[in-house]
Amino acid sequence: MTGPRLPRLAVALDAPSLEPLEPIIDALDGLPVAAKVGLSLFCAVGPAVVHHLHQARLPVFLDLKLHDIPHQVALAVRAVARLDVALLTVHASGGSAMLRAAAEAAGDRTRLLAVSVLTSLEQADLDADGHAWTTAETVARRCRLAHACGMHGAVLSARELALVDELPAEFLRVTPGIRSAAAAPDDQRRTLSAGEAIAAGASMLVVGRPILQAADPRAATVAVLEEIADALRRRSGGKDATTA
Ligand code: C5P
Repeated sequence: MTGPRLPRLAVALDAPSLEPLEPIIDALDGLPVAAKVGLSLFCAVGPAVVHHLHQARLPVFLDLKLHDIPHQVALAVRAVARLDVALLTVHASGGSAMLRAAAEAAGDRTRLLAVSVLTSLEQADLDADGHAWTTAETVARRCRLAHACGMHGAVLSARELALVDELPAEFLRVTPGIRSAAAAPDDQRRTLSAGEAIAAGASMLVVGRPILQAADPRAATVAVLEEIADALRRRSGGKDATTA
């Protein structure tokens, strides 16, 4: 990969338009974070949102969770790669041909992350879909498939990190659902703190509302970055590991 080294924290800019995000984008100035843009913001603003964030010197993590026939996904990945996006998500459940087509289309500056199993799905949903495996087995199988098909990493719950122990360290483990012990869990059900997630092997954390809704979003971001740096020092025995 020739893309820039990745920060350890992605701030989820979940809003229906750019306007309410401007103070947050200003608050992130100069901090080593990526900006995660979800489907809703991308649909509302379009590729201009990526240019806007690049002007603010933020690497962009485009969370579009692509899932379609291989040809269509390859075209979409190629279009996103032309925007110089650092990270893009696709659904691991799209199958090996789709994943391989995505990997071929990504170029060497955009890293692809496979979404293993949506955390909004329960075992009953997988059962109804005819799956023979538990959610945990499905996560592990899809992460192995994603790795075999050339994905650079996966999005998974911090509590599922142990399921992918066998995959190489370079395979990125990106984990949402991060809350400090004192914080409101919002609609997240199974949360870990930033330090706990890094200790469990996460490469990059996704944090949204605890930063977006903080009285001082910059201070909240710096606090998460410090917690990550402390946990990385403990995990790596003092070596610099501040980028993924
Ligand atoms: O506000 P909060 O910190 O809960 O934001 C989490 C972000 O991570 C949101 O953008 C959400 O869409 C995303 N996400 C998640 N759970 C997943 C995958 C992505 O919460 N399994």
